[in-house]
Amino acid sequence: MKKAALEICSVSYSIDGKRILDSINWTVQQGEHWAILGPNGSGKTTLLKIACGYIWPNDGGAVYRRGKALIDLRELRKSIGWVTSTLVPQIPPREKTFRTVVSGKFAQTGLWGEPTKKDFAQAEDYLEQMGCSYLSNQEFGTLSQGEQQKVLIARARMTKPYLIFLDEPCAGMDPGARENFLSTLQKLGKQKKVPSLIYVTHHIEEILPLFKRTLILRDGKVLESGNTSAILKRDVLGRLYQVSLSITKKKGRYWPVIE
Ligand SMILES: Nc1ncnc2c1ncn2[C@@H]1O[C@H](COP(=O)(O)OP(=O)(O)OP(=O)(O)O)[C@@H](O)[C@H]1O
Ligand SMILES: [Mg+2]
Repeated sequence: MKKAALEICSVSYSIDGKRILDSINWTVQQGEHWAILGPNGSGKTTLLKIACGYIWPNDGGAVYRRGKALIDLRELRKSIGWVTSTLVPQIPPREKTFRTVVSGKFAQTGLWGEPTKKDFAQAEDYLEQMGCSYLSNQEFGTLSQGEQQKVLIARARMTKPYLIFLDEPCAGMDPGARENFLSTLQKLGKQKKVPSLIYVTHHIEEILPLFKRTLILRDGKVLESGNTSAILKRDVLGRLYQVSLSITKKKGRYWPVIE
């Protein structure tokens, strides 16, 4: 059997005696796409930081990536991509979009080198896959939020990661921009040989059909984990958010209505 892309085994993490993550178990098999839900402060971002080695489980547990417990940090940075709106301020606003994408090849590792013709062609290809070829010569700082997130996905792919974390990529997008972004993401997720996408959100209607699995965190613990269709039920979400709601499924997506 293929080694899991990521295995989080009984991972706990504490700061100043406060447990931020408490005995988390979570396995992402290769090729699986996951959604992660959980209230503010439930530990989602902390879990992703542990998964990609920015921080270590300091209160017990182990992380295996493709079956290995220890990985060279530079290798790790290349193998897991991050996409979040908090990355945006780190990109020079006057940089041309194609350069922003190409820079993904080096930025993750802290190295710098001269991009090759092949790198530029690769960047253009990833931009095209995000429907963003028309932005290639536009300055990154002038892109809309939806365009920026698409470009950051193209950028994250430059190191050919096997996992990409998308931490609330739709935060701040208007409904039209959000749908546009999500339909591009759905197309990407349907491709073969695409990295496993891990999508953190507060909005269950953003959980696209490609996310066949869902993890729910609450108070640093796993509340539920498994098939999305079994998890996005009114009783689970009611318990999670402490509200009474009903859920309508439409075109493979789940829409909550607060009762
Ligand atoms: N460096 C830190 N120092 C102190 N507390 C921290 C630190 N990092 C995270 N925390 C705490 O850990 C908890 C989990 O934070 P985390 O950012 O993982 O939550 P989250 O689920 O991503 O929340 P959100 O939905 O708001 O992004 C919070 O209570 C937060 O205050
Ligand atoms: Mg977070």
